[in-house]
Formats: sequence, structure tokens, C-alpha cells
Amino acid sequence: MAELYKGESINSDYCGRDILSVDQFDRRSVDMLFREVDATATLVETEGGTDLLRRKFIANIFFEPSTRTDFSFRFAALRHGASVEGPHGIQFSSVSKGESLQDTVRSFEQYADLTVIRHPQIGAVAVAAAVSEKPVINGGDGAGEHPTQALLDLYTIRRKLGAIDGKKITMIGDLKNGRTVHSLAKLLSLYDVEINYVSPQELQMPEEYVAALSARGVSQDSMRTLDGPLPETDVLYVTRVQGERFLDQAEYHRLKDIYRITPEVLEKAKSDMIVMHPLPRVGEIATEVDTDPRAAYFDQMKYGMYVRMGLLALVLGRSVLPPALQK
Ligand code: NCD
Repeated sequence: MAELYKGESINSDYCGRDILSVDQFDRRSVDMLFREVDATATLVETEGGTDLLRRKFIANIFFEPSTRTDFSFRFAALRHGASVEGPHGIQFSSVSKGESLQDTVRSFEQYADLTVIRHPQIGAVAVAAAVSEKPVINGGDGAGEHPTQALLDLYTIRRKLGAIDGKKITMIGDLKNGRTVHSLAKLLSLYDVEINYVSPQELQMPEEYVAALSARGVSQDSMRTLDGPLPETDVLYVTRVQGERFLDQAEYHRLKDIYRITPEVLEKAKSDMIVMHPLPRVGEIATEVDTDPRAAYFDQMKYGMYVRMGLLALVLGRSVLPPALQK
């Protein structure tokens, strides 16, 4: 079988590139994106948006439920003056008649300039990107990767804590099936960080990710409870137990409420720690935590829209920055 197409390295040239995996990024390409995102955020906060992508057309094709990724791409496009279309539920597209993913993507690229895809199978977005001549962005492929989420998570850490190097990050929950932690762990390995993995035995970070990070010299530790790492943690990254990925629903019900972050839990955390979550949450962070100044998960969503505005612009060959700063 041919090697799975994973997208080319960005190497500071986003124009026309597919965004499939965080493996495509290095520190320089992340810095370049974040410069674009910082400037974009200021423009949104002062003027509401820009006309940078006027007459650009984005197709959003989501084969799995989504609130944040689907709609933050939509609003990101709209705030740059672009238009977005896509099937409102896969039952209303020809996929329900048996059309292949490749044909679906090749159809949308006849209409649009860029396609965002979410799919339940690992690698499916890459398969679609391989047949598409226009850029494709991975909005999450099963339990595989979620590169744009990892970029927005990284941006949130930098924006809230001022830096990424030197930070201790603790990931808690379903580290086996959660694609956001897979992509984030790999992206963090470009920086000088320590990572703790808190999960039950059954939901541990897959060995391939641990090995990839070890090869890059990242200090990693794995444990069952939060008690040990919490007092030293700078970023607590909470995830949902991914019920849709379990073959055995009895096991899901046994594990789903295993961790819960409450105000009492946070008493033992640093006063300047941040609590992140890709959302949706289904009980793993108590709503009483929302008013704690350390709760970063709603700002994380807003930053997500800014990061996706930056990505859409760069991939479509545009920038809000003057040319001298576009490197
Ligand atoms: C996550 C996802 O879809 O992987 N959500 C998101 O994109 N913000 C996390 C999840 O569903 O638990």
C-alpha cells in the first residue's frame, strides 16, 4: 500500500498547502502564523473583521458532530469577508447515497477555494487531500489528529502565560482516543516543556506519541491521579472521555466520570495556572470553575477563531501584515 499522504512541511510557506498534521510545523512556521493571528485579533477587536478574503469561498464538510471547529471556521471566514457553504448534515449530501469521500471532495473543490473536513476515520482527511487540487484543512480525523485545535491550544498558552518554553503541562482524561491531546503533545515537543499524562490505564496516551516525544527529548511522566503533578502544573488540559470511540459502552460508563475538576481540586493548584479544555465538556469540569480566573476554555474558543482566520488567510496566500513582516 502506498505511504499515507501527510502533507508537506510548511517551511514558512503556507500558500496552497494542505493542513493535515502538526508534523508539518516547526517553530518558525508557528511563529509566522502567530504573528498573523496577533495582528488579526487586534483587527477583529477594533474593527470586527477585515475584507482580506472577499470573494474567497470555503467548503466545510463535517462527517461528525461539531460546534466549535465547524462554526469557528465559519465565523473566521466571515470575519475575513469570505463565504462558507457545506452540507447541513451528511444526510443531506450524496454521501448518504453512497458517494465516496474522494468524489465528495472533488465535487466541492469545483465550487470552493479551500475545503475543511472532519471525518470519523483516522487518515481519511489525508486521503481526501491527496485527490484534491485545492487546499484541504483537517478539522479532526477520528482518534487521529486535530492540528488546528493544537495550534489554537498553543496560541492560548502563549497568550495567557506569555511563553511556552519552560512550562509544565498536565493532560488529563481520555488520552487514548482524544485527538486534541495527540496533536497538542506533538506540537509542544517543538518547545522546552514537561508533560504529565493523567489517565486510567485503559485510556493512556498511545505509545507511538510517547515514543515520538521521547525521541525529541521531551520529559514525560504518566500517572493515575492528579495529586502529584497539580501543584507544579502551569497548564491543566482537561479532556472528555470520548464515548463515540468505545466499542464497549459498559467500559465507557465505568470510565466516563473518573476525573472531575472542581473548585476544591483547584485549591491545590498554582494561582497563575490555566485550565484548558477543547470542549464540549460533559461533567469533567464543574461549572463552578467557570468564574475562577484560571478558567481559560472560553477564551480558548475565541482565540480559536483568530487562529483559524490566520490559517485561512495564509493558506489562501493573503496576510494582514505588511510584506516585511510576512516571513
Ligand atoms: C474536540 C474534538 O472534536 O476532537 N472538540 C473540538 O474540536 N473542540 C474534543 C472533543 O470532542 O472532546
